[in-house]
Amino acid sequence: MNNSIDNGQGSIVIVDDNPNNLQVLSGILQQAGFKARPALSGEIALRAIAASAPDLVLLDIRMPGMDGYETCRHLKADAATRDIPVIFISALTETADKLAAFRAGGVDYVSKPFQAEEVLARVRTHLQLRHMQRQLESQVAERTNELRVTCDALRESQGQYRRILEQTIQAIAFTIEKRDPYTAGHQARVAELAVAIAQKLGLPPDQIDGIRLGGMIHDLGKISVPAEILSRPGRLTGIELMLVKSHSEVGADILRQVEFPWPVMDMILQHHERLDGSGYPKGLRGDAILLEARIIAVADVVEAMASHRPYRAALGIDKALDEIRAGAGRLYDPDVCRVCLRLFETEGYLLSPLLSS
Ligand SMILES: [Fe+2]
Repeated sequence: MNNSIDNGQGSIVIVDDNPNNLQVLSGILQQAGFKARPALSGEIALRAIAASAPDLVLLDIRMPGMDGYETCRHLKADAATRDIPVIFISALTETADKLAAFRAGGVDYVSKPFQAEEVLARVRTHLQLRHMQRQLESQVAERTNELRVTCDALRESQGQYRRILEQTIQAIAFTIEKRDPYTAGHQARVAELAVAIAQKLGLPPDQIDGIRLGGMIHDLGKISVPAEILSRPGRLTGIELMLVKSHSEVGADILRQVEFPWPVMDMILQHHERLDGSGYPKGLRGDAILLEARIIAVADVVEAMASHRPYRAALGIDKALDEIRAGAGRLYDPDVCRVCLRLFETEGYLLSPLLSS
């Protein structure tokens, strides 16, 4: 009926215990082009409606057995028939009767005796309203579905970009470590420990993702330091030390143009800064150092001291933790140190054994 309301079509169930009234109303509606389905009681009407839902119901109030109010309440209680508009048509004229009809779920009320034109006008209005409501509902459902499809596609492609980004970072990390076997695995273990610390600090998962990636390439700038300096046993000369110390700025420079969703460049630039300003390259102090960089700094010191280096044997985890304890609050972020010490001392944290030889 949806597209043919204007020329008067639509299926209407008429409920009245008076056969004469039924006949008159049916005649009016059929003449106007509607399909009229008469029912002599509320019970008969409910069965007829359950068998085939009409577009509208014209409902008498006073009937033996189930009255109009109750019939309407039944229709409104059932999800399958809830949306069918019900117009009450009754000889009751008190305001209270009309209010009761609306409370029962009716959309309109026509008083008997009625004018044929009035009944038709109200029927057409409510069919039209119902039609528009259905159109709106299907448009909303359609748009919602489109939106869901778009969101799914976006989420999928975002996940794909994240994976590619992580794989690229991993490839960069391998590149650096290929040249420098002594720090092989260093970045991965620093990333792992930094993530464990960040989790203990309760940082949000997205920020932790950034810390993992930053940790994995924090020594990227060592690519510019000659391999023989990095892997040569013994003390470095002043110039050699300067070259090694330039690695945080070089690493940041390499990534300056990359628009990471995290402050990866500053994590790399600041991972040798110390709270008291004694670090490099800028001598930043306290909160001027990014939290991510303060976390990577502690993980870096612990891992570096616990592991073997070209210029010395591994000092071991106890010496590393001593350094953190001694520097907490002066060189290193006190909260980060507290969490890091707790990880090793009471929670049995171990640096990755496979890689830490
Ligand atoms: Fe470093």
